[in-house]
Amino acid sequence: FTPKLLVGKKILITAGATMEMLDPVRGITNLSSGKMGFALAKVAMHMGAEVTLVYGHTTAAQPLVTHAFHASAASEMHATVMHHIADQDIFIGVAAVADYSPVLTAEQKIKKSEETLTIQLKRNRDILAEVAALPDPPYCVGFAAETEQVLEHARHKRLAKRIPVIIANKANTALGSDNNSVTIIDETGEYPLSSADKTSIASKILTHLYQHLSSFNNN
Ligand code: C5P
Repeated sequence: FTPKLLVGKKILITAGATMEMLDPVRGITNLSSGKMGFALAKVAMHMGAEVTLVYGHTTAAQPLVTHAFHASAASEMHATVMHHIADQDIFIGVAAVADYSPVLTAEQKIKKSEETLTIQLKRNRDILAEVAALPDPPYCVGFAAETEQVLEHARHKRLAKRIPVIIANKANTALGSDNNSVTIIDETGEYPLSSADKTSIASKILTHLYQHLSSFNNN
């Protein structure tokens, strides 16, 4: 039984990994599978929300949602999110978005020559921080996947990105796995959810967000 807590709410969710192309056949990506973002999208649909999913590279089965758009590079994901963000009530950034992309993408396959090869990278735009800085932003939720000092880094990111909620998880156990254990961090406190399958975690996260959003809107 899933309570229809999110009827009338529009939610945009990013999921999966981005891919920054070095040449036509190679790219820089990461181990995100899309499972956590897809689980949130699926449960949000069950809770009655209108869900827009912007997904990168994934290995999981895509859930049925209201609108779905594929985006490969971080810049494409940025453009796709910005195109669909107006009128959204909630934005959940679950995608593992590349922080850097190559300054140049070679038009042809890069040939091996010297013993070492240097690739110059430039910073990508932070989609979540930009959405949170919009004049009338949706309620923004971030994920922090860290390999060490998980809670400290997550707390810092919530403040740096100026978002009401961040969900901390351990990168090495969360990425690609069917299970996850997370800590929800908002201005009222820190709420650990012990390890469970990503659908159960998604359900608990969305119920928490619904309750927090209700009190948030009343302040
Ligand atoms: O700063 P960091 O990449 O660790 O932050 C992770 C959070 O920010 C995730 O919610 C991720 O989806 C989002 N993010 C983003 N755009 C970026 C980098 C991260 O939306 N360029």
